[in-house]
Amino acid sequence: MPDTLGFLDAVAGLPEQLDAAHEVMGSLDLGSLPAADAIDSIVVLGMGGSGVAGDVLAAVGSSLPVPVSVLKQYRIPAYVGPRSLVFAISYSGNTEETVEMTKGALDAGAPVIPISCGGKLAELANEHGRPAVACPVGLMPRAALGALVAPLFVTLFRLGVFPEGHALLVKAQEQLAKRRDQCEPSAEGDKNPARELARRIGRTIPLVYGGGALGRVAAQRFKNDVNENAKAPAFCAAYPELNHNEICGWGQHGDVTRQVFSLVQLHHGYEHARLTKQMQLSRDLIEEVFVQVIDVEAAGDGRLAQLLDLMYLGTWVSCYLALDNDVDPGPIDAIAQLKAALGPHEG
Ligand code: PA5
Repeated sequence: MPDTLGFLDAVAGLPEQLDAAHEVMGSLDLGSLPAADAIDSIVVLGMGGSGVAGDVLAAVGSSLPVPVSVLKQYRIPAYVGPRSLVFAISYSGNTEETVEMTKGALDAGAPVIPISCGGKLAELANEHGRPAVACPVGLMPRAALGALVAPLFVTLFRLGVFPEGHALLVKAQEQLAKRRDQCEPSAEGDKNPARELARRIGRTIPLVYGGGALGRVAAQRFKNDVNENAKAPAFCAAYPELNHNEICGWGQHGDVTRQVFSLVQLHHGYEHARLTKQMQLSRDLIEEVFVQVIDVEAAGDGRLAQLLDLMYLGTWVSCYLALDNDVDPGPIDAIAQLKAALGPHEG
């Protein structure tokens, strides 16, 4: 069983990461940050396994009084300015898109909170006298999800922008600990839902569909985890949008797709009733063109618990898909090669 970077151990530590980050953030000096009534928008900058923390906030934070944008690009839009609270997240601290966006946000006069293990983001924070959040070192970014998500929720809670942020984190941690106990390698056979799901997916290509804001982020993460951890193809889309386009694409080539694709439908307890109906109707319409349709239900109390639960289950599934195929889940050579080939960015 190759796991050269101890990736599974890091994944198993996710619930405790939430707790630890919660503690760290409780003592961070937020004195230089704006008061709640001086914040018109929340902006999260970050790519890949770091930027997903922003997607989680945007999906879960439906009760936030201001909009949340998650930017995964180089340039900062004109609306980012002194009344935007900006989180710049890069686990390494050196991802060029995030660094460039951070410079843009600082130039625009925005209050920026960098979250990283150091690198250029920490240097920028120093230069501008910004409070920086330090991540626990030695993890892969996608295995540091708890350490990257918690600072957003705690900061907004402490600023009075997101009063429910603290309780959401506590409930999420409880659920992730339960899911970890079900899914970690010591849970054998079909009692382990992640192992069982990986067995059912086998060498088919998972197409992951989720509904609404929570389902969209969960499906995207599930797909990304299969790509990065199992190094295997996987695709995703979200309801209701897919019912306005992608659904038509299953009208042809069913003889091919039914040998190749497994549809994994992610469900959660916060689906709009009409969305649940759409998901069922679509399933009935297209199930014959897949190897199988697998329904997955989120567990946990609260929007954050349910979203992280689906994401965490997907991470474990992707680890078993890797190990079942003798693939090392940790290293991501393709991303490392691309970053090296791009070379240093002098912008
Ligand atoms: O999962 C990964 O390792 C990647 O998606 C990285 O998160 C991504 O390349 C960005 O790097 P960083 O998280 O260091 O900013």
